[in-house]
Amino acid sequence: MRAAIILILLVTVCWAKPFHQKGLFDFMLEDEPSGDGSTDTTLFPENEPVGPTCPFRCQCHLRVVQCSDLGLEQVPKDIPADTTLLDLQNNKITDIKDGDFKDLKNLHALILVNNKIKAISPSAFAPLTKLERLYLSKNNLKELPANMPKSLQELRVHENIISKVKKSAFDGLNHMIVIELGTNPIENSGIEKGAFQGMKKLSYIRIADTNITSIPQGLPSSLTELHLDGNKITKIEADRLNGLNNLAKLGLSFNSITTVENGSIASVPHLRQLHLDHNALTQVPVGLGEHKYIQVVYLHSNKIAAVGTNDFCPLGYNTKKASYSGVSLFSNPVQYWEIQPSTFRCIYERSAIQLGNYK
Ligand SMILES: *[C@@H]1O[C@H](CO)[C@@H](O)[C@H](O)[C@H]1NC(C)=O
Ligand SMILES: *[C@@H]1O[C@H](CO)[C@@H](O)[C@H](O)[C@H]1NC(C)=O
Repeated sequence: MRAAIILILLVTVCWAKPFHQKGLFDFMLEDEPSGDGSTDTTLFPENEPVGPTCPFRCQCHLRVVQCSDLGLEQVPKDIPADTTLLDLQNNKITDIKDGDFKDLKNLHALILVNNKIKAISPSAFAPLTKLERLYLSKNNLKELPANMPKSLQELRVHENIISKVKKSAFDGLNHMIVIELGTNPIENSGIEKGAFQGMKKLSYIRIADTNITSIPQGLPSSLTELHLDGNKITKIEADRLNGLNNLAKLGLSFNSITTVENGSIASVPHLRQLHLDHNALTQVPVGLGEHKYIQVVYLHSNKIAAVGTNDFCPLGYNTKKASYSGVSLFSNPVQYWEIQPSTFRCIYERSAIQLGNYK
């Protein structure tokens, strides 16, 4: 009686599962030449490595997915979900669609430089909640992407065809540090007042080689570098620089500046480098002598016809906290022998002054 029960149990345990599986798959194995009936290994390859996939022709290593220079026309599928850097530069991608970056919750950097991107779907970047760097330079974008991730710190959109920077362009992007907008057909009216306001960590703005005619309004006080070279700026208005207490570098080379309003230099008390070469200035900007920290002043290739003895150094005893390390005045109508040596009384390093000849 007891033995009979045990036998029944054993038979049930041993046969139940294999029996049903065999019965189910037997017909599939019938024509398989090497089919030896071992269904478990041929149909369930559990022992093969299942590791993360890498998109075809890309290289994946240490969570970096490298798909540059492949002639890709769209973002590849099956990008591993743990990717932190995705490099898609030098391809032929035209559109960024919804779902292109789905699941990429760990992506920190997205490089799309030198493609043919003309449109980005408004929710394409929504899954990228950790994205810090977005490089979109050398594409065909007409406008800045909508709904950029709030985690973004660095945006580069150099060499596109963007003409407008709306007031809402950077809304909520409170971690932004670097913005590069150079070589875009931006006009003054294209940058709405306050577009850069609210970004309390923004340190670097570059809007070079565009068609703006004045310094943008409402720049954040956190700025340390402002690069506006190669534009059509004709005048430095003091109020545009108001409150920029952290600005250390101001690049305005290759513009058409004729006037620097009195008060402009005083508005940026921690300025160290002022690049005003290749403009149309007729005199040295007012306020350099009283400025405590300025060290580099490029004024070459302007129309400066005379230099006053107090243009660079303070009256009376030297109140400067940092000495000049570079002053250039060559390629101006003023002749170097017409400049009084005492003009440079607060500069102790002769090599810091480049006068040259006007030819
Ligand atoms: C600036 O304007 C000129 C004339 O309107 C135009 O030909 C040129 O392409 C513009 N450049 C940029 C960078 O916007
Ligand atoms: C510049 O402004 C200051 C302060 O208002 C004034 O004292 C100074 O005379 C002005 N300099 C020139 C050249 O206008």
